[in-house]
Amino acid sequence: MAAPIAPSRFELPEDHPGFSDPAYRARRARIAEVGAAYRRGDPIPDVTYSAEEDEVWRVVSTELASKHRKYACGEYLVGADRLVLPTQRVPQLREVDERVHGLTGFHINPVPGLVPTRTFYGSLAERTFLSTQYIRHHSVPFYTPEPDIVHEIIGHANMLASPVFADLYEVAGQASLRATTDISLDVFSRIFWFTLEFGVVHEDGAVKAYGAGLLSSYGEIEAFHDAEIRPWDLFAMATQDYDITHYQPVLFAAASFQQMLTDLHAFFSSYDDKACDQLLAQQ
Ligand SMILES: [Fe+2]
Repeated sequence: MAAPIAPSRFELPEDHPGFSDPAYRARRARIAEVGAAYRRGDPIPDVTYSAEEDEVWRVVSTELASKHRKYACGEYLVGADRLVLPTQRVPQLREVDERVHGLTGFHINPVPGLVPTRTFYGSLAERTFLSTQYIRHHSVPFYTPEPDIVHEIIGHANMLASPVFADLYEVAGQASLRATTDISLDVFSRIFWFTLEFGVVHEDGAVKAYGAGLLSSYGEIEAFHDAEIRPWDLFAMATQDYDITHYQPVLFAAASFQQMLTDLHAFFSSYDDKACDQLLAQQ
């Protein structure tokens, strides 16, 4: 029998959609325990999802898949077509990890929830993506106030199944390790946010999304067209504030997928505290 979960260990804030659902909170805590106990290199234990949770995955992943055909950049679709996630049930991290690792050498490892910034980005340098496993509450399938398995797997794992994105995530992780000051990590995080989380590119005569945050949000994947779309500018990204709790009002679009890839590779490959100072000195 599994050990009882200390009720305070994985508390939810009062405004979380699952706050007043004790069964959801208990199951979510049980799932988080798997991530908390996980040690890198161990087999990833399966977790039990409820029928309601499988239904959330089915509804959200079906809706997102059709929107991706309209709004996702081509390279994301390459990754999604290689990974071929299940559509009728929440995938186990074990199977996603095996598939992604076989495709690009990236690992997907479980964590109990948000991890420290340096831990999350630093793991990317080892081609390891740290993923939550719980899923949003069934009462609001198209909204989550925090990263959940929909965001991690439909957003990030589909990207990581593309060798192009997998390499970009790795150089981003390496850049984060050279960002030793708080300010250079903050600048790095902003660039990551406005690119790999919420980036868009001009492609085939339209603005297409490549950021995992856009590609995993049923609402925002359409609403991003209402955002103010500014031209590609790393200095502007580095100094732009953002609020994770709302749709992003400002996005940055690369002129092409290749421009994004070339510029981000160059930026991440040479990024360190000194490069951060030089970037900010452009003001
Ligand atoms: Fe993310």
